[in-house]
Amino acid sequence: MDQVAPVVPEAAFAEIDRLMERGAAFFGTRYALLGGAMSWISDRHLVAALSNAGIFGVIACGAMEPDRLDQEIAATKALTQKPFGVNLITMHPRLEQLVDTCLAHGVSHIVFAGGIPPGTVIKRAKDGGARIVCFAPALALAKKLIRSGADALVIEGSEAGGHIGPVSLNVLAQEILPHITDVPVFVAGGIGRGEAILSYLEMGAAGAQIGTRFVCATECIAHPNFKKAFIRGAARDALPTVQIDERFPVIPVRALQNQGTKRFMEHQAAVLKRFQSGELAKDEAQLDIEHFWAGALRRAVIDGDVENGSLMAGQSVGMVTREQPAAEIVAELVTQAAAAWAARNPA
Ligand SMILES: Cc1cc2nc3c(=O)[nH]c(=O)nc-3n(C[C@H](O)[C@H](O)[C@H](O)COP(=O)(O)O)c2cc1C
Repeated sequence: MDQVAPVVPEAAFAEIDRLMERGAAFFGTRYALLGGAMSWISDRHLVAALSNAGIFGVIACGAMEPDRLDQEIAATKALTQKPFGVNLITMHPRLEQLVDTCLAHGVSHIVFAGGIPPGTVIKRAKDGGARIVCFAPALALAKKLIRSGADALVIEGSEAGGHIGPVSLNVLAQEILPHITDVPVFVAGGIGRGEAILSYLEMGAAGAQIGTRFVCATECIAHPNFKKAFIRGAARDALPTVQIDERFPVIPVRALQNQGTKRFMEHQAAVLKRFQSGELAKDEAQLDIEHFWAGALRRAVIDGDVENGSLMAGQSVGMVTREQPAAEIVAELVTQAAAAWAARNPA
């Protein structure tokens, strides 16, 4: 563990507990921290390890079909008695069945990602007893989501790994935290140390969601090559995908740069040429660009192809320095938060 302070006083830990009280009560956890769902990474092993470490583990459903999700939830339950949630992507064609799968297992919280979930889906989940967490990319949408039934919100800044919006957490937090008090708001994106968690708690956040920092948890099944890339990576290497022509939009994804990200630029240029020469129609060209990354995260995380696969990572990747048990990472974050509070409030 980091030698952040020789001894952190109990009063400082008590203060962190107090600041985390609302968020921890919401999830039924020891700490108001969530493991951000990461496709292919947040499976039974990492999720159970995080939940057993006192935070809220979240299974990433990704493109799983309902029967596969059913198995993953059952397997997670076999590894932990603690609460955990499921992250569902709203574009999934079988979203309602996935919600039913969660409800059949009594999953306490469903996190909806990738867009605003339809009202009917929110109602179905809530009627079935689940609490709903949604991503709010702006204040107006945060208010709309609460009106639609969201029980809590995550605000995720562009520092995060994976699919990102355009606004940093620094700005989103100022824009949203002072105005949304009726539901707990959790912050995400670029959080790698406890000092930052303390600051956001003091700004009014109920807690924090963290992804990148947990990729190198010992319990995480990510390929050793993927973990090595994270340990080597610096903040400046984790960049969003670049779009070369505004007629062909590219969804920004933050990832470590590799051969794949270079080839993506060449691929876009080649497709653009074929479009300009009349060889490809506009929608064909768009699909061709979108297909470039199909299966790329799996290639990197599972197969270990870190040159051609997608190395989705947040800017906090520079703070990942070694493989550590999940419980040790959690203890480190909480201790850093408490030490920072103690430094500001000498006895
Ligand atoms: C490899 C990777 C995969 C991710 N996959 C998903 C996903 O499937 N669904 C989702 O809502 N967020 C996904 N995220 C975002 C995380 O849940 C989390 O919000 C983000 O990692 C927080 O930022 P941080 O990485 O800086 O901690 C992913 C992030 C990473 C790094």
